[in-house]
Amino acid sequence: MFAVYAHPIRTGDRASNSIEYKPLISIADWSCHCPFLDFFLPASPLFQTPIQRRPAVECRQSLCDRNPQDARFFYIQTRTTLDMSQQFNPCITDDGSYTFFSEEFGQTFHSKYGAKEESIYKYAIPTLLSEKASRGHLRILDICYGLGYNSAAALATIWRSNPNCTVEIIALEIDRSVPISAIEHHLLNDWEEPIPSLLTQLIQMESILVPRGSANETARLNARLILGDARQTIVDPLDRGFQADAIFLDPFSPTACPQLWTIEFIDRVAKCCASDGIIATYSCASAVRTAMVEAGLFVGDTSPVGRKSPGTIASFNAAQITPLSQQEREHLQTRAAIPYRDPTLSDSMAKIIIRRELEQDDCGLETTSQWKKRWRKN
Ligand SMILES: C[S@@+](CC[C@H](N)C(=O)[O-])C[C@H]1O[C@@H](n2cnc3c(N)ncnc32)[C@H](O)[C@@H]1O
Repeated sequence: MFAVYAHPIRTGDRASNSIEYKPLISIADWSCHCPFLDFFLPASPLFQTPIQRRPAVECRQSLCDRNPQDARFFYIQTRTTLDMSQQFNPCITDDGSYTFFSEEFGQTFHSKYGAKEESIYKYAIPTLLSEKASRGHLRILDICYGLGYNSAAALATIWRSNPNCTVEIIALEIDRSVPISAIEHHLLNDWEEPIPSLLTQLIQMESILVPRGSANETARLNARLILGDARQTIVDPLDRGFQADAIFLDPFSPTACPQLWTIEFIDRVAKCCASDGIIATYSCASAVRTAMVEAGLFVGDTSPVGRKSPGTIASFNAAQITPLSQQEREHLQTRAAIPYRDPTLSDSMAKIIIRRELEQDDCGLETTSQWKKRWRKN
């Protein structure tokens, strides 16, 4: 028995801006297992009304990962180029700063409560950059560079505290058109000079080395943008033994981009963290916190900015972290805390999600609603 679907897929190399949309008709065998799981993922039970329940983007992604040689799965494809690059239009957030909306992930790049505030209060402040600037040299790993707000907020915070502090940044981003659009729309101009000029140069040249003064002095800013899937590009700082004082972990949400919240990826992130470095993220998902704990990190809250839920900070140095409350620690014992896994760091979003759902079904742990009820009773 076969099922037939028609929908677009995106192909091409996002890092180099070449993107094609191809209408695709897929014909799949009901008995087909792995690829099919990807394909039908959000439908529950699995094989119900698959396409209608999935955003087109997810279908594209999982189909791109599919092996067309698989005898159980084959497709007919008509080549039509619909689009060559991503266009992003600024949308305003509550603090007056702008963000973008991603059609692909179905999310804005920042909290609607304030894009600029998020970069300051979820990243620059919790990583203690202002205090650490007195050391005279800081290293930052900016994962999911996006519009560049987190790097901009970090530089502003550091140089306000110590204008002579030298800074090294490694920025990982898959889609160059995001920072390019931010520059075209002058969105970095919310920060004082020389930050917009330096970050513009970084995006144009993909690296920047700004001498502080005489030739013997260390550069004031030494930054590199590495384009590609962060699951692979993180090998670069890892191999160089880069030990960051601050790591900004800022992918789209775990349900939209689970690839960058897995045990395996967060383990790599942790390996890039200095012994008293701090990893900051806006997410407080228990699955993410579990992955951090598994990597040997101590985990704590950052204060909520304009919304109910806090973010997370993590460090190998417990002294840098205010421990989680008893209630939050108990949430790490629920179904929600089952982490995302991606053993080869190459699985599709859909495969990672379904792997976690299967593990959750088998785990026998309390659900979040049971946990909530229990805490309301206490
Ligand atoms: C929530 S936004 C980050 C916002 C950003 N930190 C800022 O300050 O503007 C997520 C970013 O992750 C990027 N991204 C998505 N998947 C990625 C991947 N596999 N590897 C690296 N970057 C990725 C997106 O292109 C997007 O720019």
